Parts: sequence; structure tokens; C-alpha cells
Amino acid sequence: MKSHIESLLQQTIASFQQQGIVPADFQARIQVDRTKDKSHGDLATNLAMMLTKVVGKPPREVAQLIIDTLPKSSHVAKVDIAGPGFINFFIDDNALANQLQQALNDDHLGVALPAKQNIVVDYSSPNLAKEMHVGHLRSTIIGDSVVRALAFLGHNVIRQNHVGDWGTQFGMLLAYMEELRAAQGEQATLELSDLENFYRAAKVRFDESTEFATRARQLVVKLQSGDAYCNKLWREFNDISLSHCLDVYQRLGVSLTREDVHGESAYNADLDQVVADLDAQGLLTESNGAKVVFQNEFKTKEGEPLPVIIQKADGGYLYATTDLAAMRYRSNVLKADRALYFVDLRQALHFQQVFNLARLAKFVRPEMTLEHMGFGTMNGEDGRPFKTRSGGVVKLVDLLDEANVRALELVRSKNPDMDEQTLTEIARVVGISAVKYADLSKNRTSDYVFSFEQMLSFEGNTAPYLLYAYTRVAGIFKRAEDIDLSQAKIVLEHEKEKDLGTKLAQFNEVLIRMTDKGQPHVLCAYLYELASEFSSFYEACPVLAADTDAQKQSRLLLAKLTANTLKTGLSLLGIETLERM
Ligand code: ARG
Repeated sequence: MKSHIESLLQQTIASFQQQGIVPADFQARIQVDRTKDKSHGDLATNLAMMLTKVVGKPPREVAQLIIDTLPKSSHVAKVDIAGPGFINFFIDDNALANQLQQALNDDHLGVALPAKQNIVVDYSSPNLAKEMHVGHLRSTIIGDSVVRALAFLGHNVIRQNHVGDWGTQFGMLLAYMEELRAAQGEQATLELSDLENFYRAAKVRFDESTEFATRARQLVVKLQSGDAYCNKLWREFNDISLSHCLDVYQRLGVSLTREDVHGESAYNADLDQVVADLDAQGLLTESNGAKVVFQNEFKTKEGEPLPVIIQKADGGYLYATTDLAAMRYRSNVLKADRALYFVDLRQALHFQQVFNLARLAKFVRPEMTLEHMGFGTMNGEDGRPFKTRSGGVVKLVDLLDEANVRALELVRSKNPDMDEQTLTEIARVVGISAVKYADLSKNRTSDYVFSFEQMLSFEGNTAPYLLYAYTRVAGIFKRAEDIDLSQAKIVLEHEKEKDLGTKLAQFNEVLIRMTDKGQPHVLCAYLYELASEFSSFYEACPVLAADTDAQKQSRLLLAKLTANTLKTGLSLLGIETLERM
């Protein structure tokens, strides 16, 4: 509906241009918003205020002119002017009912597919030397939800798990692995079952023995120069490390697979070329033996020029170098229209610098967008970054285990008579959803406090609330199984029916907003409002005890579309639904 109104306004502008009311090359930024107050209709625009200067008339007069020129539409029941010159649109109830009816018969719930794009999404991207910890949670969950929504909108989504599988830390790990193998033989591989410990033990050896440290450095050089033995060892190490990640993904219900891994090492062979190309364009400067690029846009707090380091004095490459190669690949090989990066906001400067440089060096096609979808820190209840009691990093697996235990307690307390197997399955879904939803429902750019109590509450904008709301809506049909809905029609009469219908019709625009901005919390807020809207409707409008058969059927259809929308919406957040809980 929103896009329909936008197109009516677009046509109005075109007609203004023909009549010379605005210049022919005038570019109007048309904005249509949902109204907060129902007395202002359903949708409103400030277009008249935007045009007042070019038209040369007061905004209310411009508003009248717009209304007089607006093409007639059966979707619009009434248009009026409010306040300084806002134009309010009242959507026709029948048109709304028809739209909902169509949504019911469409497996895309009536969502219009935008022009198809190639969209690269860089997310999760852990460093493989360590086990996944809570720091990887946000990127993994938020990225996956945006990926699902983009795919639902028909885009060609290319997942890129830019894992940190290259770099000096691998020398240390290889040296340690070698040492263990010498002592324990193949048994040594078992030590990798706890990567965190393995990493820590290797680091201890590195710090305590210069002989070990030297060996580690030599191994890096050998590895990078393609030595077969080192590469074999390194591949084994990565393999085990990756399978840890894949276990976590599976448990979290995240859609990343082994095929989506395109880590730092994949760009090895391109790095020399990156340097050569920057050099050929005169962008490189020597600074203490290192090759760097200075861009005028970037200065330190003291006003000193801030470089991007491309190659260290010892010849080693850096994080930025790999990212430049990755952007080129994403543009030229993957043909991305958009490249989205779900990475901690603390890397904001890094991305500004490399994005800017990639454009400057023409590594990416000008029409491709580079978007850092940064996120804030996940804090503990003390407001500090989330840590274990002893101050260590929290492994993701441990966090999910705890969520599961707590969810089981919760579900058991609500269903004392439920059999163990059902309880366990419900608890699994509730536990994982609670963790995911708590993260997804916050604006990603803010820090947030991780609280099991809050995320497992049945009140407020939480997973348990929504999962439960879904079981209630779905439950209505269990009692209405024998009612034939094949001829049923949605009719919106009661105030609460209209409110629910209006909310249902917004699914499309919510998905567009979520995927444009990379903000799943927009979808969370919508589903929460939808569930609340349904409760009010259900309180005010008896369904199975409706006055007439036609009314009963219409209300059942509204319930059905609500159930479908909740289920689809949750699935786009990567959250499974339950039929009972
Ligand atoms: N591995 C990096 C880290 O753990 C994140 C990589 C993000 N993606 C990228 N293209 N830089 O911090």
C-alpha cells in the first residue's frame, strides 16, 4: 500500500513537470510514512512542505494542488490535509481486505519482489585459531537473519564467511602441533577438541621458549611460501577448527555451510597484485620500511595523517590488504551490487579506510555499494563486556548450554505433566530462540546487556512471548479443523479487525526496511506489534463464536494470515516455531 501511494505521488510530480509547476528536471524525494494516530489516516506524506519552495506557494496550497492532481485510486478512501500541510491517506477497507485475501493465497504472503540484486554478505567470519566465543554471536545471528530476508525477497545472496585462517598465529599453532605429534603421535589431534586450551598452551610455549618462537616464525614463512608439509598441517588444523564452527552454526540454526567459507587465505595469491596496482597508481608511500597509503580523509586526533598499512617492512601483509583483495573479488568475480559487512563497530575506522581506498584505486565497480553493518558490544549485567566469572572469554557452546538448561527449567515449570522428550525438544527451541531473539530485537548499533532472565521472560518483546503467541493463534485452527474456508472472504468491519488487517498489510514494507538497513530489530518490533494487535482483536472479536458464519470464516482467515506472517517472520529471523509449548 505504501508503494502504491508512493507511485501515485510520483505520477503527480510527473504531471506537475508537464504543466511546468515544477522544473522538468526536478528530483522529488517522496517520503510516505505510517501515521501514529489513526485520526490521521493510515499513511502520510510531507511532500507539500518539500515542494513549497519550488512551487512558490504556501504548503497547504501545494497540498491542495497535489490532492487535485493525484490520480484516482480505488485503494484510497479519503485524502485530507492536516496541520502545516501534511497529506493524510485513508486506505479503503475493501481494498485492504482484498490485499489480505491475496496475501493468504500466495506463498510469499503477497510480498512484492524488488529488482533482483547480487548481494554479498560477509558475516560470522571468526578467527579460526580460537573457538567461537560470544564476540562472534552478533555477527553470526544478525547476518544470518538479513541473509534469510534478502533471499526471501528474491535476491541472489552470496554468503561469505571471511574466516581468519591466515596470519602469524598459525606458525605458533603449527609448531605446537608438531611438538605434540612428536610426543604423542596421531593422538595429538585429540588435543584440538578444545581449541581454546590448545591456543593457550601454544601461547605458553611461544612465550617461554625462544627456540619454539623461532620455529613458529620459520613455519609461518614456510607456510606462506607454499611448503607442502606445512600446508598439510595447516589444512588439518583449519578443518578441525572449522568443524567446530559448523557445529555451532547447526546448533544455532544458522544457514552457513562449509561452501560459504572464503577466508583470508583464499586471497593469498592476489596480495602481490594489490600492492602492485596501488603502486602503479602512485598511491603507495614508504613509512619506516612499510608500504602504506595516506588518504586525506583520515587523520589522527592530533591531526596527523593516518595510514592504511598494506605491507609490513618484513614483507608480511595485513588485514587491510586482504580486505582490498576481497572487495575486488566481490566486485569483479561475484558481481555484487551490494556488499554488506556484519562486523563489530570497533572496526568502523578500518572499513571506512579500506572502502574509501578501494574506490580510489578503482578496485570495485562504482555502482557497487560497500556497507559496514556495524554492531555494538554484548555486555554482562554489570555493563561491561560479557565475561566468565573468572574474567575469561565465554565460549559460545557454554552459553548455549546454559540457555538450554534454563529453558528446560522454565518449560517444565509451565508444564509439570509433560513427558521428558517433548520437554527437551521445546526447551531446545526456546533456549536457542531466546538467545537469538534477544540479540536480534535490539538495534544493532547499540551495546546491549545479555540477561538470561530477560530473554526467557514471557512478558515483553521476547522469544518466549512470540513463540507462545504463535501457538495460541495456531491453536485456534485445531478447534476449527472441520470448517471449510475455501469460499471464505475477509471482510473488515470491527475496529479491531481493521487494526489487525492494517498491521498485517505492513509486512512487505517492514522487510524492505530491514534489508535496506540491515536491521532485524525492525522485523522483531513488527512481529511483537502484530502479536499484540492479534490479542486485542481476539479479545474484542469472538472467532468461533462469531455472530454469523461469514464473520466466523473471515476472522478465521485473519487468524490464519496472522499465523502465517508470524511463522514466516520468525523463520526469517532464523527462529523455529512450536505448535505447543
Ligand atoms: N576475522 C575478523 C575478526 O574476527 C572479522 C572479519 C570480518 N570481515 C572482513 N572482511 N574483514 O575480527
